[in-house]
Amino acid sequence: MQLLLGQVLHFTGDPFIQGIEAARLDEAVLIDGARIIDVGPAATLRARHPAAEVIDHGTALISAGFVDAHVHYPQTAIIASWGKRLIDWLNSYTFPEELRFSEQSYAEKIADRYLDLTLSNGTTSFCSYCTVHPESVDAIFAAASRRGSRIWAGKTCMDRNAPDGLRDTAQSAHDDSARLLSRWHGKDRLSYVITPRFTPTSTEEQLEALGSLWAAHSDCLMQTHLSEQTDEIAWVKALCPTARDYLDTYERHGLLGKGALYGHAIWLEDREKARIREVDASLIHCPTSNAFIGSGLFAMGALKSDGHRIGLATDTGGGSSFSMLRTMASAYEIGQLGHRALHPAELWWLATQGSAQALHADHLIGNIAPGMEADLIVLDLASTPAIAQATGRAEDIWQALFPTIMMGDERAIREVWLAGVRVHSRP
Ligand code: GUN
Ligand code: ZN
Repeated sequence: MQLLLGQVLHFTGDPFIQGIEAARLDEAVLIDGARIIDVGPAATLRARHPAAEVIDHGTALISAGFVDAHVHYPQTAIIASWGKRLIDWLNSYTFPEELRFSEQSYAEKIADRYLDLTLSNGTTSFCSYCTVHPESVDAIFAAASRRGSRIWAGKTCMDRNAPDGLRDTAQSAHDDSARLLSRWHGKDRLSYVITPRFTPTSTEEQLEALGSLWAAHSDCLMQTHLSEQTDEIAWVKALCPTARDYLDTYERHGLLGKGALYGHAIWLEDREKARIREVDASLIHCPTSNAFIGSGLFAMGALKSDGHRIGLATDTGGGSSFSMLRTMASAYEIGQLGHRALHPAELWWLATQGSAQALHADHLIGNIAPGMEADLIVLDLASTPAIAQATGRAEDIWQALFPTIMMGDERAIREVWLAGVRVHSRP
């Protein structure tokens, strides 16, 4: 048993609903093996568990690890590619890079690199697209399994409007996905996600085949992209003239339901918002990507007020950072452009418990509470001179935390714990 002392930030509810009182600050968290056993005042926990090894982090912040609800690990090496909007960006940078994942050793190299980069940034769980190649799925699951991370991933299915070497078929997408699902889903801390890339790259036959696969495996999540850019939406309309809207191109093939994750979801029509809310599907906000690719402003305030289930994500490598701190900063800036200043408690909740809720895993990860998995991060709230001089004036935890949200990076991440094991520490 280990007793970690510091400023322990955890949540008793959703601060968008219950207010910032839903965020609590405690002094100690006790872990035993892979689980969190107790959280509370340091003196109480010391008295209750006198045999525990005490690890004192002083004034450092202890939080649940970050949960990144939408990433493309195969795009690690093309992050920060200049000058294109969505469709040109896919054709110029993304598809050529994804072609390289037919080679198992390349997929393994990038999977390891992605996990190293994100763990050092405090991300303990993520939900990733792979490429069309089954090898890319094996690579990320094997790498996550070696480290002990809880992750979600799936083979990206595409049978049109993609280059030779990146297309499957309706049948092979179904069969490959089914085989990978049975190989990985539920093994260790791994979950398979059924993954049609988006309507422009999947025929109706493929969407139908994946809809029936999801119906047969309804305990799996299903991820795709929805209404990211206006050009994309116009293309979807041209490809599917009889669909009521973009969401309908999924809905009519069984790809709408609880457990569906829609990345971006910027330009939603009223019917789409209402249906997504009705079935309690998840929307994933990818703020650095939406700014970087020039997509638009996600309506966080209005969608949360309407009761939508929302996660936060980097969308690496359309997103311009591996860091969920940078992603929170971008979400804050996009909120400001929409006249809704997100509170630091709301931002932190989105990056942890909100994303876990979007992935239907908030009982396991994304918070510090007895029984939950011990995926923890320890943060230095004065990790650079610029941040230290700002926090020097802080009068409460939120003023102390906000400069790290806005200006922090991997230098703020002092330690990362996965399932009760310290896997990263800064010298
Ligand atoms: N839409 C379809 N594929 C992608 C992708 O790889 N990245 C982003 N940002 N949007 C997409
Ligand atoms: Zn994406």
